[in-house]
Amino acid sequence: MDNFGFHAPTQVIFGKGTEAQVGALCKEYGAHKVLVHFGGSSAKKSGLLDRVCASLTAAGLEYVLLGGVVPNPLLSKVYEGIELGKKEGIDFILAVGGGSVIDSSKAIAYGMANEGDVWDYYARKKTITASMPVASVLTMAAAGSEMSNASVITKDEGMLKRGLSTKYAYCKFSILNPELTYTLPAYQTASGCTDIMVHTLERYFLNNDCKALAITDSIAEQLLKNVMRNCRVALKNPTDYDARAEIMWCSTLSHNDTTGDRSFGDWACHQLEHELSGMFGIAHGAGLAAVWGTWARYVYKENPARFAKLAVNVFGIPCNYDDIEATALKGIAAMESFFRHIGMPTDIHTLIGKELSETEIKELAYKCSFMQTRTIGQFKKLNLEDMENIYRLAK
Ligand code: NZQ
Ligand code: ZN
Repeated sequence: MDNFGFHAPTQVIFGKGTEAQVGALCKEYGAHKVLVHFGGSSAKKSGLLDRVCASLTAAGLEYVLLGGVVPNPLLSKVYEGIELGKKEGIDFILAVGGGSVIDSSKAIAYGMANEGDVWDYYARKKTITASMPVASVLTMAAAGSEMSNASVITKDEGMLKRGLSTKYAYCKFSILNPELTYTLPAYQTASGCTDIMVHTLERYFLNNDCKALAITDSIAEQLLKNVMRNCRVALKNPTDYDARAEIMWCSTLSHNDTTGDRSFGDWACHQLEHELSGMFGIAHGAGLAAVWGTWARYVYKENPARFAKLAVNVFGIPCNYDDIEATALKGIAAMESFFRHIGMPTDIHTLIGKELSETEIKELAYKCSFMQTRTIGQFKKLNLEDMENIYRLAK
């Protein structure tokens, strides 16, 4: 078995009404003046923002508000946050929202604590050495940013989406109240569940058995089954607390390395998807559903047994020991069938409402290859031509 690491330093406060503790927690983590960062209208409409502000005031903390984060958060908003943060002398950033708001907060925190243009760090020109403290009140179970080391930002010019993972990006604390997700539209619930599942799938598809651990595989398989079961329940009854709670905790566990060390993971679907949501502004989880099946059929021959294991252990498909590849393919079809069942697209034209043109395919692949300077994926290494092929097959 290969060596691995585990680092998950975020304090989690889980359950009903826990957002009332936010002021006291910010104070405990050393805040004096907080930048409260949020998205469009959902946190205002639900009254959450007012409750958060009341809790900060009750703890004797000053705060300034900055809303307007859009899904697939933009660099221009990050610059606005850095400028406001410096002007107002803030020393703590509180994200109230989903993955986009948390990621925008992490980028502002980097910009506050590191010299120069924050984009240079996302563009791999410089290395992050510090961050201002960030915490979150999560309103959407999906990205896992509440306990991950990552943030993903889109540069407005050229719509270039780039992720950055560092040990400085972990939230100090994350408040997870499943009730806050009751108001999610069905599409966002399904997209979030897909993202949660793909965070585990990216880690599950190892082509080197030395990297697999039986306990980790079992956790991953149970998490996938649990998300599928509870996603169906939450779509039928959006205010089912237990279903929302299961999904929310799976979101966090799926991306904090409990279901596998991220450095062993494949991540090709994420890289392919980030270019799609960067270019077309679509929901990240839906984009993952649109490419996952095509990716899986493109690569499964590298280690069909791994895909057959998913088919048997997650979907209960009987193993055909004379034809492992047939079992693997049935598992891929079952996963796609689930995505369609919850209203997710399993091809790109259903995702964006049109077929990709050849020019778009080439642009997406070129950006995804970091202008032809990298391959993606570990299960099977994919070069520029492979990326074009997958976009073409999924279009
Ligand atoms: O802006 P508001 O009005 O809040 O509406 C949001 C937004 O339109 C809405 N929403 C969120 N909570 C709600 C709600 N609507 C009603 N009730 C609520 N309780 O949902 C929409 C989507 O929100 P967003 O934050 O964009 O979704 P998500 O959490 O899926 O985040 C997606 C972003 O995270 C990145 C993605 O690439 C994408 O940019 N990722 C970040 C990761 C990380 N940092 O570790 C890993 C992921 O793989 C992912 O790449
Ligand atoms: Zn994701």
